[in-house]
Amino acid sequence: MKPPDIEHLYFDGRHYDQRCQGLTQDIPFWVSRARKYGDPVLELACGTGRVAIPLAKEWFLITGIDISEPMLAEARRKSSREGTVVEWIKTDIRDFELGKKFPFVIFPANTICHLLDLEDLEACLSCVKRHLTPSGRFVIEVFSPRLDILLRNPKERYSHSEYLNPDGKGTVIVTKSNAYDTASQINRIKLFYKLPE
Ligand SMILES: C[S@@+](CC[C@H](N)C(=O)[O-])C[C@H]1O[C@@H](n2cnc3c(N)ncnc32)[C@H](O)[C@@H]1O
Repeated sequence: MKPPDIEHLYFDGRHYDQRCQGLTQDIPFWVSRARKYGDPVLELACGTGRVAIPLAKEWFLITGIDISEPMLAEARRKSSREGTVVEWIKTDIRDFELGKKFPFVIFPANTICHLLDLEDLEACLSCVKRHLTPSGRFVIEVFSPRLDILLRNPKERYSHSEYLNPDGKGTVIVTKSNAYDTASQINRIKLFYKLPE
């Protein structure tokens, strides 16, 4: 089980929030499911609380777990600024024991793609199974791969996003490469961050 490279800018909560500004279209879905399945809710890989904080604002009890301290630091800062209560826990989604069960476990925003092999996927799923109540629900949001993306030239860089540098100097430009291995059916995406000079 390889630890993720949390030194990478991808795991910096300030950069994540700048890059994902305006990404809110999934929130009504998670709120409606929480109304249906009940709380406490557990969010796997909660990041900066993009989903957990809006759920807490709707008065759901929620626990968010994530491996990156810089992401959780941003989550804590925002939830205390907004007066919302979320239980933030730093742990690995492949190996956690929270000592309680949940009727609703969520895995938003394609984050399941961070589980890079079958061993990681099975480890995470067995942790989730241990944390679900007997009739609990586990909801995963993941995209359907587009053929034209899978067929991209792995040596080429494609545009990904641009956002204002959270340190206040210029624009950060993110590009990506795509390498799809047909035998394993694994699509490897690399993000490249270009900071302003
Ligand atoms: C795309 S962000 C998603 C954050 C949040 N769920 C959202 O919807 O905005 C991916 C998150 O996965 C976390 N992550 C990646 N691998 C992890 C692991 N093995 N255990 C816990 N968190 C992990 C990262 O730290 C990052 O916060």
